[in-house]
Amino acid sequence: MLTVGVLVSGSGTNLQAILDRAADGTLEARIGIVLSNRPTARALERAAAAGVPTQTIDHKRFANREDFDRAVVEALRAASVELVALAGFDRIVTPVLLDAFPQRVVNIHPALLPAFKGLHAQRQAVDYGVRIAGATVHFVDEHTDHGPIILQGAVAVDPEDDADTLTSRILQVEHRLYPEAIRLIAQNRVEIVGRGVRILGATPPLPEPLVRRW
Ligand code: GRF
Repeated sequence: MLTVGVLVSGSGTNLQAILDRAADGTLEARIGIVLSNRPTARALERAAAAGVPTQTIDHKRFANREDFDRAVVEALRAASVELVALAGFDRIVTPVLLDAFPQRVVNIHPALLPAFKGLHAQRQAVDYGVRIAGATVHFVDEHTDHGPIILQGAVAVDPEDDADTLTSRILQVEHRLYPEAIRLIAQNRVEIVGRGVRILGATPPLPEPLVRRW
């Protein structure tokens, strides 16, 4: 069974969704370690409650991003991790991590990429006035919020939405998308083809409002 390492920094609601589906068997993968760069992250409590090993590696102890990533890679390897899932991880990753897990680092971003990269994507969407927002699970490459897209889910923006209400509705979609993307990878059904991703085999229809990207 595929062993996943989850990197977190904050509240960890996406981690919780992944843990829940690991526990009920529908993730078809196991979580080998949850690693945080912040000792007070609520996500660490979620992992501990689920009986998953945790580790904190405080980025402030390192002189540069590469040294931090070397320590992260060492911890992930010690836990026999095969797939790295960034889930609200607030550090920029370097080639040290990407080269250690080629095409095996994934991320979730609260926008329909390539729109609204970077921080505060939900606020960017509200400020821009888009009618449709959403979330993206993608492979991580050397550019921020850029790699091949695995799954996307759309959310309609209501006229009354502010950044907070939109954030919470996008999160509901995130919690369905991220475990689903990990399950597809665990089943060896996700293939990177150039800029895109091909999903092999028949997939059951995803519940609305999930949108598959072919
Ligand atoms: C999510 O919105 C995710 O898309 C972004 O950071 C947030 C993490 O939330 N990368 P949580 O820690 O999973 O609750």
